[in-house]
Amino acid sequence: MDTDQLVRVFTEYFEERGHRRITGSTLLPPPGDQVLFTTSGMHPLTPYLEGRPHPLGRRLVNLQRCLRTTDLDEVGDRTHLTVFEMLGSWSLGDYEGPQSLDWGYGLLTDGFGVDPGRLHVTVFGGDDRVGPDTGSLELWQDRGVPVELTVEDNWWSNGPTGPCGPDSEIFLWTGDTPPESTPTRDDRWVEVWNHVMMRHRRLDDGSLVPLPQRNVDTGLGLERLSSLLQGRSSVFECDVFDPWRRLLPPLWRLDEPSLRLVGDHLRSSVVVIGDGVRPSTTGRGYVLRRLVRRVLTVLRRDDPRRGLGDLPDELVRHTLDRFRQDVPTETVRQVLLDEERRFDRLLDRGRRLLSRPRFRGPLGEDDLHYLHDTHGLPRDLVLDLRSR
Ligand code: GLY
Repeated sequence: MDTDQLVRVFTEYFEERGHRRITGSTLLPPPGDQVLFTTSGMHPLTPYLEGRPHPLGRRLVNLQRCLRTTDLDEVGDRTHLTVFEMLGSWSLGDYEGPQSLDWGYGLLTDGFGVDPGRLHVTVFGGDDRVGPDTGSLELWQDRGVPVELTVEDNWWSNGPTGPCGPDSEIFLWTGDTPPESTPTRDDRWVEVWNHVMMRHRRLDDGSLVPLPQRNVDTGLGLERLSSLLQGRSSVFECDVFDPWRRLLPPLWRLDEPSLRLVGDHLRSSVVVIGDGVRPSTTGRGYVLRRLVRRVLTVLRRDDPRRGLGDLPDELVRHTLDRFRQDVPTETVRQVLLDEERRFDRLLDRGRRLLSRPRFRGPLGEDDLHYLHDTHGLPRDLVLDLRSR
């Protein structure tokens, strides 16, 4: 099943069960939101999970683009991407968790053809504030799926405050041997789908209060699911990365980790630019700037002549189309090239400054502050220049 088919099967499955598809999936949260980017499918639904009636009703389904900088250092492993798409389904005070898990199990096994013997789940075991999630436990026991109980790993929130609750995570076995051990003990169990019983709100003082309604919020990373169903060993090998894997290696000879980082960060940059963000010194623009600069740092490490001007148009087009962004490729290219020029000017300035006698010895905190505050040279860039 390719990724587009997978999205179709998922949405139709939930539509057949009374869910309405939400349209729109920008990375930019609404004004007033504390967070820079949309980080999960539930994020734009926060007011509705807190009780405001949703115009489309109480059962929703969506494909939401997300950006997570918390996972930045994990990019390059088998499962993490900076920008990714998340499939999700919601019950806004309608059906309960066991119903959601039962549908989830049905879709994975009958709809996507996953062997039930390759599944393991985790369930919230209870702590001193909230009791164990017995509804989920019983459902999984009925279906014959092995369960591991945890506490912290099975509590989900989108931030320090706001809606949260116990969750039940579904894992798929990716090892070459028959399944063994449990999800917290063996990372060949890969999480595919999280069902959150979103019934609490955490307040500023850390206390929990019940939400006005009992919701269910589920999230399932699309590229991760595709790679698992397509039998690929990493997210970078699922079909949405096919053009990247075809076009990048002949262009820039890079080792596999660098190839993954460059592919992830460039693809993410295209999507962020496609949603209207421009590089800057703060906020969203700074996230974009860091992504582009990390790409340039990796590319130039082996060959200073490498540049973003070589990025094939096809990759920009493919990404914008995949994320349903109606933006000319030329706009994206222009932003990338302007940022590259700015970075090159900064590098020149950095090299000149660091060659001054004052900076020849080891750099102290004062030097790093001075270079940043007076000359606009970010700490990372200075340290990188120094390490070459
Ligand atoms: N909202 C559930 C998840 O992102 O895992």
